[in-house]
Amino acid sequence: MSNIIPHNFQLGKDDRNHHKGHQSFVIWFTGLSGSGKSTIANALEYKLYQEGVHTYILDGDNVRKGLNNNLSFSPEDRTENIRRIGEVAHLMVDAGLVVLSAFVSPYRQDRENIRTIVGAQNFIEVFVNTPMEECERRDVKGLYAKARAGEIKDFTGINAPYELPLHPDIEIDTTHTTVEESVSLILNKIAHKIHSKHE
Ligand code: ADX
Repeated sequence: MSNIIPHNFQLGKDDRNHHKGHQSFVIWFTGLSGSGKSTIANALEYKLYQEGVHTYILDGDNVRKGLNNNLSFSPEDRTENIRRIGEVAHLMVDAGLVVLSAFVSPYRQDRENIRTIVGAQNFIEVFVNTPMEECERRDVKGLYAKARAGEIKDFTGINAPYELPLHPDIEIDTTHTTVEESVSLILNKIAHKIHSKHE
């Protein structure tokens, strides 16, 4: 590691932000499986896309199937999952993208580490706080039923912990808030950020 000396590249984040016409940062969705993280991220991305903002969504579908396909749901592997995602998000922010990431990310310390990696000014934490009973009632992927039947060990909310965010930037309970309303809440929060010069 000590022999890795960074090259001084001519272009940096500021140049790329200028080129794209907006700032880049991470919108980090956290919450139980089935809480609605990816659904809201997807609708938000579409809205940003229509406004000419350059975005990318990181979620279990594109990360756990590829980059992180050697990781399980043990506490250590979840931490490693989130660490790698944080580093990828950091690179994407440097590349000038607004990154929307949707992971359970159940450990507070792991989420705080991402804040440190990307910089607090580049990190918006969105807590999708849909009650466990509702996530289980929806059971879109049938995983809660499997976990109840003892077929999945370490399932978040059933036999693995979820550590609540203490000071999320935005908190959404999808039993009271529609997808459209959730998107508006987030857009209002980030509007000044997207087009601010340097933060
Ligand atoms: S994290 O805890 O490491 O952040 P991640 O968001 O990547 O989890 O993956 C969670 C998704 O994987 C869930 O939405 C669910 O579809 C699936 N999954 C499979 N096994 C588990 C498990 N044991 N706990 C939670 N989610 C699981």
